[in-house]
Amino acid sequence: MCGIVGYVGNKEIKDILIDGLTELEYRGYDSAGIATLQENNIRHFKSIGKLVNLQDKLKNYSSDGFVVGIGHTRWATHGKPTELNAHPHLGEYSYVVHNGIIENYQEIKKSLEQKGVNFVSQTDTEVIVHLFEDFYKDNNDEFKAFEKTLNALKGAFAVLLISKIDNQKIFFAKHGSPLIVGDDENGEIYFGSSDSAMIGKAKEVIYLEDGEYGYASLDGIKLFKKSKSKKLHKKTLTQDKIYAQKDGFRFFMEKEIYEQSEVVNDSMMGRVLDEQIDFEELDKNFFKGINEIQICACGTSYHSALASSYLFERLAKMQTSVEIASEFRYKQPLMKKNRLFVVISQSGETADTLETLKMAKKAGMKTLAICNVDNSSIVRTADKTILLRAGIEKGVASTKAFATQMMVLWMLSLYIAKLKNSLKRKKMVKELQSIREIPSILKITDKLHEKIKRLSKRYLHGHGFFFIGRDIFFPLALEGALKLKEISYLHAEGYPAGEMKHGPIALADSELFTIALMPKSLLYEKTKSNVEELSARDSTILAVSPEEFELADDFIKTNHSAHPMGEFFEMMIVVQLLSLEIAIRMGNDVDMPRNLAKSVTVE
Ligand code: G6P
Repeated sequence: MCGIVGYVGNKEIKDILIDGLTELEYRGYDSAGIATLQENNIRHFKSIGKLVNLQDKLKNYSSDGFVVGIGHTRWATHGKPTELNAHPHLGEYSYVVHNGIIENYQEIKKSLEQKGVNFVSQTDTEVIVHLFEDFYKDNNDEFKAFEKTLNALKGAFAVLLISKIDNQKIFFAKHGSPLIVGDDENGEIYFGSSDSAMIGKAKEVIYLEDGEYGYASLDGIKLFKKSKSKKLHKKTLTQDKIYAQKDGFRFFMEKEIYEQSEVVNDSMMGRVLDEQIDFEELDKNFFKGINEIQICACGTSYHSALASSYLFERLAKMQTSVEIASEFRYKQPLMKKNRLFVVISQSGETADTLETLKMAKKAGMKTLAICNVDNSSIVRTADKTILLRAGIEKGVASTKAFATQMMVLWMLSLYIAKLKNSLKRKKMVKELQSIREIPSILKITDKLHEKIKRLSKRYLHGHGFFFIGRDIFFPLALEGALKLKEISYLHAEGYPAGEMKHGPIALADSELFTIALMPKSLLYEKTKSNVEELSARDSTILAVSPEEFELADDFIKTNHSAHPMGEFFEMMIVVQLLSLEIAIRMGNDVDMPRNLAKSVTVE
């Protein structure tokens, strides 16, 4: 996920901007850049890869005196991670940095190109700076031009813009992506997309709200909303960096659970169209001759793979097999060329998964990676890649990567459904409607979190947990059990609800905790009978369902949803928070559980 910094003042600007960007490194990035403005001299420095490369380019540069500047670390969404695509983006006399996605950039680009504007990058961001300069030509009023630019943009953004027209100011705007502006005791100005970039520099900050914009100079910060001037809502900035990186949450994992609504939205941007799904990274020809899917993955990624197999078969009518990568490697599998070989990995470095990908390539199969880290080994090896856009995941137990994997896989099943003509238009439109509802389903209410926090104290002992569900809720049960195991060190299993009677039910007694996923939109009655069988054997039942279940010892009420995936995403939040709260009560380090690694590069 991209990072933004900005500065207006008299200090050495490269130190301030690089230091701020370093604080944002934890968010992940693949290129970086800064632009500075001193009197009439506007300059930029960009590099791909890590910040040391940028520092190298800045070796012979020094600001020495009053300066205005902006900086950015980029996590590629539109266009590859190249220097040309790195921010800041230049117009004729202005520079811009941007986080988020401009949904209507193609229309804007087309109309500007017709006016003779030349674009050099593949990014959506570049339209902002050209649009600003185009509006400025009309009325020679830089603030009006900036306001008009913002009004023309659709999507999510946080923007900083500097221009030779006014070499004392930074223009700023927030709409959907985070942005903070602050000042110190001398009135020098600092910007950051997270407050961790501003600690030790700014004293007071304004956490900008959506729709707020303005400009900042040594004369102060001017804030506006809907063309009206606003009072500054300043707060004292914390001086604790780790605390700031966690945005006030107790653990990174908790923060990442809360981020899911936003990152799933990022994952959908530009891909969910009115009547179909579009992946700019794929093309029709790629699927020629393909009529089956084979997926390999490990851990959480294996669970999303398993859940997606139901969607691929149901929506895309593609036979789909899923295997744990470490098993697949040595089973001497049949590798058929009519199968698309898909690997799923958050890190892109998991050795077992990477090895299966190499096997598939060697066998001449077409390969597709679904991954969160651009330029990772898996991405470099696969023929095609769909990036998750989850941003860097710090918690070892994966949460937001899983959510974005599920979203990408659902979208992919619809993309293939369109290619194969396997869904009626009406059904496709309904699916797309349901997809659009997911970001709001993923917003966590205080009521839900409080309820789970309270319940968690009753689930600290006992001889084990069974998470059970049917259909796509079976892989979700597996994932719930994995989360709990990983961070609480309690024994938990995920099981198909209908399979309990074939053995595991022998374990049932009051010390066995059953977490029953009972969606209303899919096989409710069937699942209910299975839970009743367990309740009759005195197992302690925590039912998760939109429908009250009288035999449950505890009950978490979820919302009704027309589409099972709506219920899936809501129940995903429930099992993640339940594991988190149990592990916190056990006193564990949730972000760094014992014996586990985030990226497993050994067999
Ligand atoms: C490790 C992590 C798991 C993760 C698995 C697969 O075991 O601890 O959380 O699910 O690797 O990782 P990947 O990066 O390939 O998704």
